[in-house]
Amino acid sequence: KSRLVVLASGNGSNFQAIIDACETGRLDAEIVLLVVNRPDAYALERAASHGIPSRLIDHKTYADREAFDAAMAEAIDEARPDWIIMAGFMRILTDGFVEHFRGKLINIHPSLLPKYPGMNTHARALEAGDLKHGATVHFVTPTVDAGPPIVQGRLEILDNDDVESLKQRIHGVEHRIYPLAIDWLVKGKIDFDGAATQTSPAVVDASGAL
Ligand code: GAR
Repeated sequence: KSRLVVLASGNGSNFQAIIDACETGRLDAEIVLLVVNRPDAYALERAASHGIPSRLIDHKTYADREAFDAAMAEAIDEARPDWIIMAGFMRILTDGFVEHFRGKLINIHPSLLPKYPGMNTHARALEAGDLKHGATVHFVTPTVDAGPPIVQGRLEILDNDDVESLKQRIHGVEHRIYPLAIDWLVKGKIDFDGAATQTSPAVVDASGAL
């Protein structure tokens, strides 16, 4: 079984989708550690109720980004992961941290990258009058939200969509594509170099399903 370490900051609904995929056997993987950076992250309770070890590494208790990232890297290395999965982890990571885990560090972002890196992606898609929106699973490189994409889930923006409805529907898309991308990784169907050289990522059209 592949060993996964999950990094989260908040609710952890993507973390839950990965837990479920491991528990049902859909993923040939085991979550060996959850790391959160906030004491109030609900993801901690999800880990506890599924018997998954967790660590709180509170960024507020570290002098600077380097010290925080060093503590994170040490905790992650101890867990000997095959893959490190960022699931709503809301801290910018240092280049050193990202390079240390190069090719093993994966993120999910709520937009059709390269559109809308950063924050407020749903509002930006609505404001631009986009017809489609989605989420992207990608390898992490030092430039934020710019690493090689693995898979995108897409849906059509409806006339009556607002930020809240889009956020909910995109979450549904994410809960499908994150386990799918991890499945491809653990089966060796894609790796960093493969993702970096493909002309466009795999696409899951989730318009109809939600
Ligand atoms: C997800 O929508 C994820 O794409 C986003 O945070 C949410 C976490 O939800 N991540 C980012 O914006 C990263 N920049 P969750 O805690 O319920 O999984």
